[in-house]
Amino acid sequence: MADPLPPVIAIDGPSASGKGTIAEAVAQRLGFHYLDSGALYRIVGLVSGERGANLDNDLEISNISLNLNIKFEFSRVWVDGRDVSELIRGEVAGAAASRVAVLPGVRKALMALQRGFRRLPGLVADGRDMGSVVFPDAALKIYLTASPEERARRRYKQLMEKDSGASMAALLQDIRDRDFRDSTRAAAPLLKCADAIEIDTTGMPVGEVVAQVLHLYQKTQ
Ligand code: DC
Repeated sequence: MADPLPPVIAIDGPSASGKGTIAEAVAQRLGFHYLDSGALYRIVGLVSGERGANLDNDLEISNISLNLNIKFEFSRVWVDGRDVSELIRGEVAGAAASRVAVLPGVRKALMALQRGFRRLPGLVADGRDMGSVVFPDAALKIYLTASPEERARRRYKQLMEKDSGASMAALLQDIRDRDFRDSTRAAAPLLKCADAIEIDTTGMPVGEVVAQVLHLYQKTQ
């Protein structure tokens, strides 16, 4: 019989729900690999925009996605030999990511790449469709949420650390708009799948959420 595939913990949820922080901490505690799938959509958005491609053209953007050489190393992200770690976090890449993420061909092109991260001893993957589409056989599926107000506050705090002049009202509106776009798109919309466990992190410290995920994972063993 073939060896079983390495275990996956899928952590999905809306933007600024704390998925990245929690997923990275859980991966570190377990010694697992970590996949930030949003970074892939951000890379495709960024590079496509830089090349002047039409961000609504599925064929054109899928072709770009299929031919990128992406490397995650020491918490940095490299594309075709260029360090894009900071650039992909910017607003331009974020907006472009949310546009290219609705294209079915792009989602398909990124599928094999994402599944390639599944290596021993295991993987923690964060995104929108990790449990529903990319790793439907994940050992544990978490759906992480927080109220829009709490998510706007968290993002505000992050941006203030970078000395940006963001306003709370604009951030809250942006989060509501993104939620709407991510959950109403036809291809792999953001949804909590039936076998995912929802954790509402509003008012919860990071350590407590991490402990809860680790406890739930131990129960699957
Ligand atoms: O989580 P993030 O903000 O880095 O994601 C960037 C964009 O990519 C966001 O608009 C949602 C989209 N995305 C997606 O459609 N599927 C994923 N698995 C991850 C992100």
